Amino acid sequence: MRFKTKAIHEGSGADPLTGAVSVPVYMTSTYAQERPGITKGYEYSRTGNPTRKALEEAIASLEECRYGTAYSSGMGAITTLLLTLKSGDEIIATSDLYGGTYRLFEKVFANFNIKTTYVDSLDDLQKIKISKNLKLLWMETPSNPLLKIYDIKAFADIAHEHDAMLVVDNTFATPYFQQPVKYGADVIVHSTTKYISGHSDVIGGAVCTDNEELDQKIRFMQNAAGAICSPMDAFLTLRGLKTLAIRMEAHQGNSMAIAHLLSTYNNVKKIYYPGTVSSPYWDVVKEQMSGYGGMVSFELKGDASVVEKFLSKLEIFQIAESLGGIESLVEVPAVMTHASIPKKIRESRGITDTLIRLSCGIEDTKDLLEDIRRGLESC
Ligand SMILES: Cc1ncc(COP(=O)(O)O)c(C=O)c1O
Repeated sequence: MRFKTKAIHEGSGADPLTGAVSVPVYMTSTYAQERPGITKGYEYSRTGNPTRKALEEAIASLEECRYGTAYSSGMGAITTLLLTLKSGDEIIATSDLYGGTYRLFEKVFANFNIKTTYVDSLDDLQKIKISKNLKLLWMETPSNPLLKIYDIKAFADIAHEHDAMLVVDNTFATPYFQQPVKYGADVIVHSTTKYISGHSDVIGGAVCTDNEELDQKIRFMQNAAGAICSPMDAFLTLRGLKTLAIRMEAHQGNSMAIAHLLSTYNNVKKIYYPGTVSSPYWDVVKEQMSGYGGMVSFELKGDASVVEKFLSKLEIFQIAESLGGIESLVEVPAVMTHASIPKKIRESRGITDTLIRLSCGIEDTKDLLEDIRRGLESC
């Protein structure tokens, strides 16, 4: 089956009991056993639930992985994966990261003696001395919020030379535009809150892998720590997933048109968008991605007051954290999604007070262009 067909049919199928074509919401905490220990495959919903299982199978299949697990949030997914490490283990992560992931590395797992070192590029990674305690290389590609692209295959090769694993946070690209296992990634994580569910009505996360031994460890931890995706959230996410392909095409059409519009304005200092030949990452983009997604970041000339003016003129883009939903959102990473990164570190990484991140929805392109034009002409 090809992607669009899989997105609709994988994990679903007529319900054996009623023939329902849509996976029912199994809203149950426990399952009656015929005799103690004799079950129909489910014993307790933290351990397993048919609606969650359908979602887990669907996401894993779209990522070309054999195994998937679903969680109550993207952070729940990442936490569960990190819980498979032990004190003394080390992580190397690319520096442009979602602020919450950075906070989890620095403020939570650092307390358990799991150290994270940051690199900005493949060059940086090749220059540093890699510890024998390295367990995970971690990347977001495209990254949040600067949309940097990292070479999955080159990072995976380095991870494997050191007996470590490469984790790719594939939230921005989704498996529709990028399937990291094809380039050697060992683990894929998602905030399914974003494009996968796609309608800004659910918080969720997922971990996918093709490595059976690792999946066993993750599944053990999913049950032990308990940050599971609820049946209702699994249902909503599964419903969103079915239209992922057509939504991603529409998001991308709008992001391309907006990136182009931004390039025609003098008051735009810098545009971060992977989908143009002028992108510094174009060679890697062409190699590992089949599209560029729906995100565009840019910096305005001037100071924070210019950003205020720009935002005050927008009528369609709503000021909100999150991304990947059908409606267009705008945010200022320095004071919103990335505020948990100390100012000095944030600024050294390029997250300035005038950086704006757009999540281009699937509204009419002309309306979105008019909205952005309105904002830019006011400042
Ligand atoms: C790239 C990325 N990974 C992980 C997360 C965390 O996901 P959640 O908010 O679903 O916990 C986010 C949230 O914005 C994100 O952007």
